[in-house]
Amino acid sequence: MSVLNTVNSIEQRLQIERLSEATKMVAANAGSDVVRGLTQKPKSLPPCYFYDDQGSELFERICELPEYYLTRTETSILQQCAGAIAQITGACELVELGSGNSAKTRILLDAYQQLSYPLYYLPIDVSAGILESSAKQLLQEYPELRVHALAGTYEVALAQLTPKQLSSRMICFIGSTLGNLNPQECDAFLSQIRNTLQMGEYFLLGIDLQKPKEVLEPAYDDSQGVTAAFNLNMLEHLNRSFAGDFDTTQFAHWAFYNETQQQIEMHLKSKRSQTVQLQSLNLTIHFDQGETILTEISRKFNLNTIQQQLSAFDLIPIQTWTDANQWFGLLLCQLQA
Ligand code: AVI
Repeated sequence: MSVLNTVNSIEQRLQIERLSEATKMVAANAGSDVVRGLTQKPKSLPPCYFYDDQGSELFERICELPEYYLTRTETSILQQCAGAIAQITGACELVELGSGNSAKTRILLDAYQQLSYPLYYLPIDVSAGILESSAKQLLQEYPELRVHALAGTYEVALAQLTPKQLSSRMICFIGSTLGNLNPQECDAFLSQIRNTLQMGEYFLLGIDLQKPKEVLEPAYDDSQGVTAAFNLNMLEHLNRSFAGDFDTTQFAHWAFYNETQQQIEMHLKSKRSQTVQLQSLNLTIHFDQGETILTEISRKFNLNTIQQQLSAFDLIPIQTWTDANQWFGLLLCQLQA
């Protein structure tokens, strides 16, 4: 770990750590997941390749789309229940996984500030750039806030959390990013949350709930084509990272709700028979016409099932909030023996 920043008054309240172990692991691993995904049948790619600068910008645009109900529904739930969350947890550090631009965090910070609790925020994100800019913005808005940002993967950041500054902690995983993990990854993740928290501490989880596919599918195939651009950008990202020659005009965005698996699946479909090279990975891949690459799953949850699953990891849901349509759920869990 290396401390990058502690200089003037805003900077005195800001510490940014790059988790060097994570950086080394990513470098050592670079591209092996791409080779694995593109040489298996059916082909797939890890969703982390969505998020270069361009992809992160496109994701922010997705969150504003009329069809993408997730962000505004979760925001409205948070606005209603943030005060109750702060009352229940009392003063505690907020650890946020995949904090991005920290837009929804302000609602929680306001609630803790309203109760005159000290504000201590630990955002975790793979992008050090986004962490720094959003932390500086927050520090300007909240003069009492201290931020300790961790640039790295969730796994490494959670494993390297420093001793608490306040008496309790709440790990926040909002935005339904849990839905992007397959069931095995989900279990491993919940197990790490259990092992990171101490008894009595909190886990705040936001999840997208099951609903008719007439609502779900447009959210992942919007009329302005932003989600299509987000999906296709993954190929541009591979071109930039691995000297590739994907022609993105020869692939089509394809998203549908798999009702059996209760998940949205996003694919890229080859429009014709074609061969693509990723020079720096020494990889040549053939695509048949109509062949697909699975780029993301987005699981949609049932409240009872997820409550039971959380309880199996000793993360006991003590309060659950939803919107009037029951489209989205926010669960406050406490680690109990
Ligand atoms: C980040 N994650 C929760 C989004 C989702 O809805 O699964 C990613 C996304 N993919 C396409 N649109 C949004």
